[in-house]
Amino acid sequence: MATQLKVELDPFVVDNRPDHVPAELVRDLRWALGNFPVTYDEPYKETQIFFEGDVPPLLWTPDAVAGHPGIGAWVVTRYQDIARVYQDAELFSTEGVAAFQSMIGETWPCIPLGIDPPDHMKYRTMLNPFFSPKAIDALEQKIRASANVLIDSFIDKGTVDFAYDFGRVYPVRVFMDLMGFPFTQFEQFLEWENAILHSHDFELATMALRGILAYLREFIAEQRANPGPDLAGKIVTGQVGGRPITDDEIIGTIFFLWLGGLDTVASTLAMIFRRLGLDMAMQQKLRADPELIPDAVEEFLRVQPLVNSHRLVKREFEWYGQTIKQGDWVMALVTAGNFDPAEFDNPREVRFDRQGNRHFTLAGGPHRCLGSHLARRELRVALEEFFRRVPPFKLAANDERLIYPGLRSARNVRLVW
Ligand code: HEM
Repeated sequence: MATQLKVELDPFVVDNRPDHVPAELVRDLRWALGNFPVTYDEPYKETQIFFEGDVPPLLWTPDAVAGHPGIGAWVVTRYQDIARVYQDAELFSTEGVAAFQSMIGETWPCIPLGIDPPDHMKYRTMLNPFFSPKAIDALEQKIRASANVLIDSFIDKGTVDFAYDFGRVYPVRVFMDLMGFPFTQFEQFLEWENAILHSHDFELATMALRGILAYLREFIAEQRANPGPDLAGKIVTGQVGGRPITDDEIIGTIFFLWLGGLDTVASTLAMIFRRLGLDMAMQQKLRADPELIPDAVEEFLRVQPLVNSHRLVKREFEWYGQTIKQGDWVMALVTAGNFDPAEFDNPREVRFDRQGNRHFTLAGGPHRCLGSHLARRELRVALEEFFRRVPPFKLAANDERLIYPGLRSARNVRLVW
């Protein structure tokens, strides 16, 4: 079991470096991309190294682009540079981002993520009403009921594997309900999602892609024939820019919602409750003053970013004295930028009274997370209901504390009270 990573920033020799990338900027950043398991209390503490000494703000690393094996990327670590990558859609495109379907030769884009402005707005206009704060208010009772049904199942036992028995199930239940997916698909969905996002195994990932896409196509055909009252039914009968949505747009939208909506909240929850199980004083503070919970959610999101976003460069430009060419990939290393001391005071400290907490965990710019209000509400409700019903808890003494690669998270968090 890995506990300590080999964290280094020495230049690294690779054979897929394009000619315009200077050798001295090439680094092996697999440790920073969450590719190895760790047991740290602070899962991202090692990214501090980017802010020490004279580490160049722009680096290049091989094999860094999700869904595009063997492709390297420029990497930016500073807050302001990440803001530029998210906001400047004229320069940085999302074409091909998270396009796992290209691994099996499918050519439709992920919607809305894989579409650049101005077209992107047509899809957000179609989807935003279902994810607005008002729409989430209407869902809140169901969200709270989902949390309570799960708490009922273990409250009398004095212990729970929080990540497995709560975090893994609760947001997926909410998401499946929202979309209208039958709950019988639960285990199968998680197995496919895990193979695509976390397995780092090409064969497993492509098999899972074939599985989920065949399932979704059948599900979409049923919804088309007989549109249900849930979000999937609304998407198949939807309008994009005043015309009916096409088949490719339907699969692109439903597949991406499935990809983005399934285990992000689960991973975040597991890490929040792992932290609270390790830090009784922090837990007590929130129990004593539940009004702190919304700000705490924001701060937990900041210190536990899951996604380092990629963008495809649209035209050649100069950055930090380097020529960045059209077709190069750039990665915004949010797992560093959310801790940039130029933006956040004492960035490694978890502070619920942090002002202007503009982290990038839910991205920024036009592709800011569509599910952000839903995610925040699920996190808030889980904390409220746990503190209301479950006595003070701690991490079980024999908990292995392992944080897995991929979307960096714990699969098991054993709590006792
Ligand atoms: C804590 C939970 C979540 C995190 C950390 C998260 C993170 C992100 C990030 C970083 C992006 C931008 C990706 C990029 O620019 O490359 C994004 C976009 C997106 N997320 Fe989330 N997400 C979460 C929850 C959700 C949920 C629950 C849903 C849906 C049910 C969702 C749906 C989406 C969609 C559709 C986009 C694309 C938005 C666009 O391109 O306009 N996310 N999310």
